[in-house]
Amino acid sequence: MIKINISLEESRVKYSDRHDGAVAFMQQLRRDEEDFTGWVNWPSEIPSEWMDGMKRAADDVRSKCDKLIVIGIGGSYLGTAAVLEALGGSKPGCPEILYAGNNMSGYYLADFKEVVENNEVCLCVVSKSGGTMESRLAFSVLKDWMYEKYGREETAKRIVAVTDPVKGILREEANHEGYVTFEIPGNIGGRYSAFTPGIMFPLAVAGVDIETFVNGAKEIASDDAFWQKGLDYALARFALYESGKEIEVIEYYDPSLRLIGEWCKQLYGESEGKEGKGLFPASLTLSTDLHSMGQFLQEGHQIFFETIFNVVNRDKDVTVPESAGPDLAGRSLNDINAMAVKGVMAAHAKANIPMIKIDIEEMDEYTLGQLLYFLMMTAAVTGKLMGIDPFNQPGVEDYKQEIRNLLGQ
Ligand code: PA5
Repeated sequence: MIKINISLEESRVKYSDRHDGAVAFMQQLRRDEEDFTGWVNWPSEIPSEWMDGMKRAADDVRSKCDKLIVIGIGGSYLGTAAVLEALGGSKPGCPEILYAGNNMSGYYLADFKEVVENNEVCLCVVSKSGGTMESRLAFSVLKDWMYEKYGREETAKRIVAVTDPVKGILREEANHEGYVTFEIPGNIGGRYSAFTPGIMFPLAVAGVDIETFVNGAKEIASDDAFWQKGLDYALARFALYESGKEIEVIEYYDPSLRLIGEWCKQLYGESEGKEGKGLFPASLTLSTDLHSMGQFLQEGHQIFFETIFNVVNRDKDVTVPESAGPDLAGRSLNDINAMAVKGVMAAHAKANIPMIKIDIEEMDEYTLGQLLYFLMMTAAVTGKLMGIDPFNQPGVEDYKQEIRNLLGQ
């Protein structure tokens, strides 16, 4: 069942007339003939042994520790963090998931070690290439710390490595040390890896129903009506881009979606920002950020359009008590939040801001599977419409080389 809907509310958004071109790109993607399009059919191709293996290893990790440290950066951790935050964190009785290796701050890692000092930990290192500087650094520091805490043999039993099936230094080390390993398929890139073990294994440890998560994507990956929704969103974004808009402001009215915004920024920014093209993805948590950016949105330089991620039904709510005053007392806070969505959109419509609203029926594993797949298909089709390759990232090599030069490597 499709749980994601798109509407161009009270806005000046028009679909681009490149519909036929977008359909051709979609068909090309679905044939999975290009490099790095393995993600398109992957939800229905993921081997059942992989799912069983992840669940078994997750049970083992759960029996050993109360914290799982996930080391990874970009596409190798954001999906886990985003899904877990949207679901309200680890399920009761499951280890808390902590993240390292997503920055190079010595302060962060020193602090991190203090935080986990008295916990039972396991570690999941996720790196497709195996050589990413941030992950390598955090892995070596935390592994050393674990050697002191548990000794080398026990440490190896507490490490799970998710990496390329054959290549890279992490794969070599994992084979040598005998870590439990899972693969990120060669033809799936980091930011399109939401349904691979890199994201799903830590989710399984946190007690997320990964079967239902994959099913959300699986059931719509072959559904023409769902692809049409991805095309509609891509065609709307592309029309706005062609009309001169430079920034897409992704907005959500619930802080638990903040990391979905970060995941989306990475997906869009890295897929589309090349050859002097692309929409700059920004994100705002509302109503919080209306008190900092609301003024700019309403009256500032109109180089942006808005995409609102709107969760329709929430399974938790509070009733406003009498003490809030007669105008608010007795109301559902979620209903008031829904009115805020309408009110802000009405005000922004008066300012002629183009708006795309994505309605997400509820925030559960199944719907999140659909949402992530929907956003991946949108990024791929929009990139194709822009005339760039949405699956490479040649620009990120430049800064990496500069850092390597400075380090004398
Ligand atoms: O989307 C991408 O390709 C990147 O964001 C990568 O996921 C990120 O750079 C981490 O790479 P790796 O998994 O090789 O450590």
